[in-house]
Amino acid sequence: MRVAVLPGDGIGPEIIAQALKVLRKLDLALEMQEAAVGGAGFEAAGEPLPAATLALARQADAILFGAVGDPRYDALPRAKRPEQAILGLRKELGLFANLRPARVYPELAAASSLKAEVVAGLDILIVRELTGDIYFGQPKGIRVTRGEDGDAREGFDTMRYSEPEVRRIGRVAFEAARKRGKRLCSVDKANVLETSQLWREVMSAESKNYPDVALAHMYVDNCAMQLVRNPKQFDVIVTGNMFGDILSDEASMLTGSIGMLPSAALDAAGKGLYEPIHGTAPDIAGKDLANPLATILSAALMLRYSLAQPAQAARVEQAVASVLRKGLRTADIHAPGMKRVGTDEMGDAVAAAL
Ligand code: IPM
Ligand code: MG
Repeated sequence: MRVAVLPGDGIGPEIIAQALKVLRKLDLALEMQEAAVGGAGFEAAGEPLPAATLALARQADAILFGAVGDPRYDALPRAKRPEQAILGLRKELGLFANLRPARVYPELAAASSLKAEVVAGLDILIVRELTGDIYFGQPKGIRVTRGEDGDAREGFDTMRYSEPEVRRIGRVAFEAARKRGKRLCSVDKANVLETSQLWREVMSAESKNYPDVALAHMYVDNCAMQLVRNPKQFDVIVTGNMFGDILSDEASMLTGSIGMLPSAALDAAGKGLYEPIHGTAPDIAGKDLANPLATILSAALMLRYSLAQPAQAARVEQAVASVLRKGLRTADIHAPGMKRVGTDEMGDAVAAAL
């Protein structure tokens, strides 16, 4: 089993190091090869997604990804910015289905900014479409327009979804709901956007093939509100790229910290890229402060979805639960009476728990 390891920028390398520690403990025949990506890719090869990195990702069975981005590159043209690496990998590898589970560990219910009873026992799955929408729609750009007061620049992007694109992410979401609580909430902005109107029609049509799954529709603004009002009303949420980006950050805080949320980005054949949903956190990079659990849990998803090792995936998840039960906490989830640990010590503890 070949795993491409792409640590990226900021806290990326330190959190990936912890996931590797955990994977090495499992006694699996994993062939792990590392490559530079994001700002690190730019430094190494002048491109955020160097050709050699893309080639390694293509030939691997799975990709373990840290995070990309650094304010140092803010002034670069868009094509050279670190974020292009992850967007390029998603697009080039056809990783259209993004699974972002948000689960509240009982030990962390008090770490949420919401009341413990609102989030205790929460277990939702956000299925985010990942290769379409306003992220990739053409045309986009900045152009100069002539106005009455002279020339002015205007930025524009195109929100776009085709019927087949909506159908295939719909199927992933219906299948996922079928294996869980059998409730699917499709989130859109159909009261305003044509794209969403089509999205809603396709989801409704697709639901005829899944009579055992109850489909509901919700506007995205209402969903953002419902997620903090009563998140346990949801089972599976399916939504587009942009809304899914925003709602998954919101959902992460229900679990206590964005440092806890793993994700899987899958292609049509189940090959996947696995990454924490958080970013590079440049302010804490290299300080042994970052929470590595989202990355370790992403490695667990990789074992389950791409490497056909469900028992090992469950072992890793149980090891994470057990260190939380023991009271170990990185800064982001720390609470009075708990043992404060750094990135490295947290990784050691999970590996030891295995
Ligand atoms: C995410 C991130 C990315 C996104 C950025 C880094 C391009 O926020 O994976 O959620 O917007 O998809
Ligand atoms: Mg995001």
